[in-house]
Amino acid sequence: MLGRSLLGLLLTALPLLTSAATSWKQVKLGGGGGFVPGIVFSTKTKGVAYARTDIGGLYKLNSDDSWTPLLDWAGNDKWHNWGVDALALDPTNSNKVYIAVGMYTNSWDPNNGSILASSDGGSTWTEYPLSFKVGGNMPGRTLFFGARSGNGLWKSTNSGATWTKVTNFPSTGTYVQDASNEYTADKVGLAFVTFDASSSSSGSATKRIFVGVANVNTTSIYYTEDGGSTWAAVPGQPTTNNLPHKGVISPSEGLLYVTFNNNAGPYDGTIGSIQKYNIAAKTWTDITPVSGSDLYFGFGGLAVDLQKPGTIMVAALNSWWPDGQIFRSTNSGASWSPLWSWASYPTMNRYYKYDVSLAPWIGVTATDDTKQIGWMMEALVIDPFDSNHWLYGTGLTIYGGHDLLQWDTTHNITLKSLADGIEETAVLGLISPPTGPQLLSAVGDVGGFSHSSLTTAPSTPFNTPLYGTTPDIDWAGQAPTNLVRIGSDASSTSRQVALSTNSGATWNEDYGAATGIAGGKVAISAAGDVVLWATSSNGVMVSRYTNAFTAVSSLPSSGVAIASDKVTDSTFYAASGNKFYVSTDFGVTFAAKSATLGSSSTANDITVNVKVTGDVWVSTDAGLYHTTNSGTSFTTITGFGATWSISTGAPKTTGGYPSVFVIGTYNSVVGVYRSDDQGSTWTRLDDAAHGFGSGSANVICGDQRTWGRVYVGTNGRGIFYGDESGSSTSTVSHIFT
Ligand SMILES: *[C@@H]1O[C@H](CO)[C@@H](O)[C@H](O)[C@H]1NC(C)=O
Ligand SMILES: *[C@@H]1O[C@H](CO)[C@@H](O)[C@H](O)[C@H]1NC(C)=O
Ligand SMILES: *[C@@H]1O[C@H](CO)[C@@H](O)[C@H](O)[C@H]1NC(C)=O
Repeated sequence: MLGRSLLGLLLTALPLLTSAATSWKQVKLGGGGGFVPGIVFSTKTKGVAYARTDIGGLYKLNSDDSWTPLLDWAGNDKWHNWGVDALALDPTNSNKVYIAVGMYTNSWDPNNGSILASSDGGSTWTEYPLSFKVGGNMPGRTLFFGARSGNGLWKSTNSGATWTKVTNFPSTGTYVQDASNEYTADKVGLAFVTFDASSSSSGSATKRIFVGVANVNTTSIYYTEDGGSTWAAVPGQPTTNNLPHKGVISPSEGLLYVTFNNNAGPYDGTIGSIQKYNIAAKTWTDITPVSGSDLYFGFGGLAVDLQKPGTIMVAALNSWWPDGQIFRSTNSGASWSPLWSWASYPTMNRYYKYDVSLAPWIGVTATDDTKQIGWMMEALVIDPFDSNHWLYGTGLTIYGGHDLLQWDTTHNITLKSLADGIEETAVLGLISPPTGPQLLSAVGDVGGFSHSSLTTAPSTPFNTPLYGTTPDIDWAGQAPTNLVRIGSDASSTSRQVALSTNSGATWNEDYGAATGIAGGKVAISAAGDVVLWATSSNGVMVSRYTNAFTAVSSLPSSGVAIASDKVTDSTFYAASGNKFYVSTDFGVTFAAKSATLGSSSTANDITVNVKVTGDVWVSTDAGLYHTTNSGTSFTTITGFGATWSISTGAPKTTGGYPSVFVIGTYNSVVGVYRSDDQGSTWTRLDDAAHGFGSGSANVICGDQRTWGRVYVGTNGRGIFYGDESGSSTSTVSHIFT
């Protein structure tokens, strides 16, 4: 706080900054778009549940099945808080929530992890830094206070404020997924910490605790009977080439159920088992549902029905084909029934009605690759107060339902997508052409969408061709129903450039593109006949009239930002390092201008005034630059440091200069900014409740029709849109204090 105040005092000589109230809302996909590794129900208060995601924060369940995001306040300095690696609720007070946050344990993320603690159900949080890293987006997913990376077991006796290592805990876990690269070479560490509430009276510290450790071929389950003073290996445990994933206690049965998998997950697993441990008798029983060649997966998610002792469910990790699998037993694992079985091959008996009405596009995605039930199913829970209500997380969304007991009667349930409010896509590109849908998105993992309504879930992702990840999308300035989008899969048999002439309703592969080339950024010329493509590993290429793409040898082969002029068909712009390039021959050749982008070493983005040829903005690692003469000279916009995504939008006054939107560092503060006067003054748009995570990872897009409307695509929290809500306060320093 002191630092911020001092900064404020220094600002008075710098350009005026105003802070306008912007009303931020979410562009609705209706649920998911990414991995949900953990869901926890309160055993104390009916209806209270939280779901954690790997890069998109934490959510709380509402009574109407929708979810409310809880970490949207995290801004650029707190982006790693969106990687939630563990989640725990106080068993005596469902308003007390603890999460372990941090994105990666590798060298590329310098941040140590933190524990965030809330005592008001997630409305406000206190952050307690940890002295080691936490990896929400790493292989394997640990549970609260069992650490990764060989950091062992940690204990706090003051509601998370301080942590001490449990030095007499016998194992920190030796398993690594794959030592050959840094991401997978990290020790998975502790897999679960499970308290046996029946071992002590309510209100006193739990005496019996089980801890699963990522070890194979040796002891992996430890326990204490004295609240952690002493620890020992659980006797008689199986030691196989599998590691424990989930350990769940069925208190009234006196049983610990454990799922095992031969890999850390969440993507892998080709064998495993389910074991149950009788706590009083100290005996283990193998209760794996299938064997032999039917056992081509391990196990992840594990749920017990606290209302119906002996009813348990497990999720396969991973049955990639033909679909995921979930098993249910009502006799403590003596026998099981599946969620699907083979009828006469290849016909499947699916023992459910599939209902994706809350997010219809999921049905298109799931049907395309046959996987309705899902994959990466590490989170599986039955509502402790309602045997009919269950939820599980997949790599795509949350499914579940409200008629689970029908599994045991008719063996046919309603499997429903239940992630409304969870918006966890990683957004890579956004456009808002002046006609057609007001917003179209290029999105990681789930393709991209035409958002004909911002408040209704789309019925389909971009299809035919369906790209898993769409790195970029663009529109033609003088023929704005003409669009281009690209895919990222160089191994695909479909060409990774697609064209639409009807605002994205239908698409055709661009036959000028060769298979095997993918990714990067794309721009389409003003008349829509030329596509300029800065590929991820084949340099910059250009194609006119869908003729074969050819290399643009006058541009550097990597690190190039590109854009099309939106008025003149022959004109394209490029920037790299501190150089700016212009093509006036339909992208065939580019010439570097003599004026440079100052001391920049990386050019990040280019946007244009859509009404005027040669009026161009460029963002770089060292500032924000504007030219009105095609780069013959540049104005350096005062106050900006590193700037990333930039966009123009509708002008404030009809016929006036477009609004300019910037995600970047202004007077040393990373934020979202708008100027209505060609960069003389700026308004900060992000606020205390909407931080948007990592600034450099986000994309911004001004609406071409409505002044003040802006779209921010995040790396894990989907798309937000903001509207000017009128009250604008002129401030220079106090917003920083
Ligand atoms: C993380 O914690 C370690 C151990 O306390 C410390 O040495 C390191 O400087 C911390 N890293 C950061 C980025 O704060
Ligand atoms: C565990 O044992 C199996 C069978 O002996 C062996 O193939 C595997 O490499 C072992 N795993 C580790 C991590 O030692
Ligand atoms: C379960 O019910 C759905 C919807 O009624 C039906 O489509 C499906 O075929 C049923 N499953 C089986 C195996 O009968």
